[in-house]
Parts: sequence; C-alpha cells; structure tokens
Amino acid sequence: MKAIRFPENFALGAASAATQIDGDCRESNWYDWYLKGRIKDNSNPDIATDHRGHLEEDTRLMDEMGIRHYRFGLEWARLEPREGEFSEEELQKVRQEITLLRQNGIEVLLTLHHFSNPMWFERQGGFLHPRAVERYLAMVEYAVRGLGDLVSEYVTVNEPNVYAFCGYLGGGFPPGEFNPLHALRIMKVLGECHRRAYRLIHTIHAEMGWPEPKVGFAAHMRVFTPYSARNLWHRLACRISEYLFQTRINKTYLLGKEGPYADFLGLNYYARTATSGLGDGTLPGVAVNDLGWEIYPDGIVECCRKLHALLPQLPIYITENGTADNHDSFRRRYLYEHLKALTESGLPVTRYYHWCFVDNFEWLEGFTARFGLIHFDPVTHRRTVKKSGEFYARMIAEHGITEQMAREAAGEEYHYG
Ligand code: BGC
Repeated sequence: MKAIRFPENFALGAASAATQIDGDCRESNWYDWYLKGRIKDNSNPDIATDHRGHLEEDTRLMDEMGIRHYRFGLEWARLEPREGEFSEEELQKVRQEITLLRQNGIEVLLTLHHFSNPMWFERQGGFLHPRAVERYLAMVEYAVRGLGDLVSEYVTVNEPNVYAFCGYLGGGFPPGEFNPLHALRIMKVLGECHRRAYRLIHTIHAEMGWPEPKVGFAAHMRVFTPYSARNLWHRLACRISEYLFQTRINKTYLLGKEGPYADFLGLNYYARTATSGLGDGTLPGVAVNDLGWEIYPDGIVECCRKLHALLPQLPIYITENGTADNHDSFRRRYLYEHLKALTESGLPVTRYYHWCFVDNFEWLEGFTARFGLIHFDPVTHRRTVKKSGEFYARMIAEHGITEQMAREAAGEEYHYG
C-alpha cells in the first residue's frame, strides 16, 4: 500500500448545503415537498441536522479536525421569504456564522443556490418564469453586498443538470415534472444565471474595494460508459447522455460567448453511469455504495481532465466528493482511492471538499443515506466523529496518507453490485 503526499497548495475541506443541515425553514419548496410526503423516511428539512442550533459545536468539530475550508450555502427562502422582501435578520445570522468560522481559521466557499427555492418563486414556475434570472440576481446582489466583506469565494449554482433532471425529468425532486423541454430550458436559464452572477459578483467586489473574488459553479459530472461496448445503441446513448447531461453545460457555462466565466473549475463527482438507454445504470459486478452508485475512483480524474481541457489555466476545486456508507465500513478506502487518483494525476487540483461533514438530510432519501464524516442521531441530535472522520483529520494533519493509514483503508470491503 502506497503512502501519498499531497501537493503543497492542496487543501482538504468539507461541504454542505443550507436545506440539508440548517433546519428552521418553512418557506422553501423542500419543506413543501416534505409536507406532501415525498421524503422516504419522512424526515423534516425544517429540522435537518439543526445546524442552526449547533453552530458552535459544528464549528468546533471542524476546527478540531483541522478543516480550514468549508463550503456551505444560503437558503434563498429565508433570505427573501416574500418576493422583494429581504431579511436583514437572516443576513445577520449568516454573517455571524461566517464570522465564527473565520475566528476559527476556516475560510468559506459560499453557495448561492443549491436546489432549494422559496415557495413564492416555485409557485411562479421557478426558473421557467420569464423573469427568473432577474429574481435570482436580485437575491445574489443582496447577499453579496451584505456578505462580500467576509467572503471572497462563491459557487453561483450547484449542479444545474441534477436540478433539471431530478425536478423536470421524473427524478422525484420538486416540482415533480416530466418534461424534457422544460429540463433543457432550466439548464439554459441557469447558465444565464451563472454567467450574469459571475460578472455581478466581480462588479460588486470591485466597486466596494473588496478583494477580487473567485467565482465558479459546481458541475456535477459522471463518467459515462456503454452498458455493453458491443451494442451500438448503448454506445450512442452514452454519447447523447454525456453531451446533454454535462458537456454542453460545461462549455456554455464556463466559456459562453465572452467567457471565461469562472475563476476555478468546480467539480462534484460521485459515480460512473452505464448507459443502455437515456437513463442511469450500473455495470454488473462493480463496487457500489449504499445507494447502488458505482465506486469508480479513476472517474474523478477523467472528469477533472475534461474540465481542465476547457480552461487549463484555472485551479480545480473538488466542490463535492463522498459516498453513501451508512455503517462507515468503506469510506476510508473510498477516500484513499479518490485522493490517490487525484494526487497522481498531476492536475492542478487545489481543494477537495468532502461531501459531507455531518450526515445530512439527503433530499428524497432523508436520513436513510449517510454521507458524513460525523454521525448524526436524528433523535438526540448528537454528533459523533466516525472512523472515517478520524481518518480525515489524520490526512489533514499528515498532509497526505501514511503507509499505515493506506493499509487501514485497503482493509475495508466494498459491496459489489
Ligand atoms: C448534491 C448534494 C447531495 C449529494 C449526494 C450532490 O448531487 O449536490 O446536495 O447531497 O450529491 O447525493
């Protein structure tokens, strides 16, 4: 088992999203979705991990683990609970959270939109509404003017393809539509949101004399492979899926007509998809996580290379990577293999934000799929550092993975599909 030394400019962090951890929000489309009984275990996003009630504890845990980079998000529904009415109180709460993080030496990468919408916006048709981009930008402007003295790194939108596919192609997210034209339109509109937010954030920072910001979007990418390499249809489906799901988005969002529109390349990577049609599938017999997603460490490098080819001058941030492992029985191996692949790739990857920190509200799965380094008890709200959490802290302290740690990781067993 090989030891790994991370490059000097490489840092490990953790990622989360407001709806998945904060609690205290009844104005969002996800609370509405919960009321409609759409969450598998009926867990309530108005509680989530009650991060809002555990700010000090969660920050302390992060600090103790040596985490110095934290990606978290705004809840638009709290920031603008009614159209055009922004909440100064919410802004102050976010400022307090960022201040607390910074007092603990933790820098923030702030996500402006991560799947959830205020209900007033959702009722108008969300991003299908003709004035959706302006509404999104009004929220961005309010947030950046109010927080930009404390934050200089932003993710404009999280995974526009997952948002579009899950919400508008039968993936079970709100609004629960199946309409391919809408899915395509949503991806296009979110591209405009991203590009205009990119310019807006730069303009505000310059106008205020704040440090030049780093802005990007979090691209969800998968590796696509035909289910059967000999089957022509599977091969064609593979090409079409990859193009529609990610290639087109990456090009238009990052390059646009007058790009680039990014200061870093954000990648959320989880799995490889085997295509036999225009859906999701997994090759037989491969290693899988508790949600049946293939564990395919080389894929993280393949996806980074595709982004890197578009804008080779930019650093790559792994804005999410992690796995559903409810018993924490293979996460150390998963971490070792993905970080080894990244380190050996020689690509300019400077950040790795593990998804996620504390087990969180996993959208439709509620608390039935656990991605955290810290265990969360939904009854007592108790947080307990997992074995993989200790491993992560050791990776940070060592700035790499020692031979002994590599051996421990390699001793863990995956499940096979
Ligand atoms: C999303 C997260 C989610 C994670 C695991 C990503 O697609 O950005 O919100 O929890 O995957 O499913």
